[in-house]
Amino acid sequence: MTNGQTTVVAAHAKINLTLAVLGKRPDGYHDLSSVMQTISLHDSLDITATTDGRLHFTCGIPGLSGSRNLAYRAADLLRADAGDPSLGATLALHKVVPTQGGLGGGSSDAAYVLAALNTLWGLHLPDERLEALGARLGSDVPFFIRGGTCLIAGRGEVVTPLPDARPFWLVLAKPPVAISTAAVFRTLSPADYASPEHSEAIVGAIRAGDVLPAEHLVNSLEAGVLRAYPAVAATRDALLAAGAPVVRMSGSGPSLYAPFADRAEASAVTERATSAGVTAWLCRTVSHAEVLAARPQAAVLRS
Ligand code: C5P
Repeated sequence: MTNGQTTVVAAHAKINLTLAVLGKRPDGYHDLSSVMQTISLHDSLDITATTDGRLHFTCGIPGLSGSRNLAYRAADLLRADAGDPSLGATLALHKVVPTQGGLGGGSSDAAYVLAALNTLWGLHLPDERLEALGARLGSDVPFFIRGGTCLIAGRGEVVTPLPDARPFWLVLAKPPVAISTAAVFRTLSPADYASPEHSEAIVGAIRAGDVLPAEHLVNSLEAGVLRAYPAVAATRDALLAAGAPVVRMSGSGPSLYAPFADRAEASAVTERATSAGVTAWLCRTVSHAEVLAARPQAAVLRS
């Protein structure tokens, strides 16, 4: 137990390089094949382990503070799993990643809380156990236990680590609309179901260390969201007009990303898009090693 010391954790967002919805499952979820990548946009969490058996959680955004927040629920779940009533923590979440953005922000906060408290509470659970606990909180949480570049299957909980994708820059844009993941999945019909071919092609490029072929950066949910939400289509048009050759949607949207090999080019497009009124960030990909480094001592726990 590391008591009383505050650890600052950077909880990175993700983008989906591919997202194929394979079909609907009997439990109501959808089977996916997706390549996910952590990126530099991140929330910050101040985490202090205590021995008073209490959890204190604060967040500057009123709607997000409270015991329904996934970060709080992650701490509560880990504490219950450990079965030690003396375990407590103070958590302060500083939110930067847009909520309901398709960037996994809430899931990332939860995963980093699991990983950090596992260390600070001295539980020494293997990452496989943290992934299983994370899957109970949300489909994207297991991915964030590993981070970097991963192939995702099942409803999101089957995580196959990949070598880090060749690093690249991206312009990330948040259209002025929040989209519920459940609502997007609800509108799907069998005509929207896809094969994992694009994910397999991207995995091949990643394993070969190649630049990712744009024609395989395909998201099954993108066309439907662009049709249903004019604000997303308008942001996409603004990014194209600002000079982005390729624009793709992340997850169930509405966030969009434009990949670039060159930082200066990505920076210029970010500036032009911002001048045109788009909420945009210049980001880069974040490797598995950087994710481990963002949670002190966790590297020791994962062989
Ligand atoms: O798991 P999570 O709570 O993030 O999922 C939110 C909603 O998105 C689910 O309730 C479900 O409606 C939908 N979903 C799905 N298939 C997935 C992941 C999410 O249908 N693989």
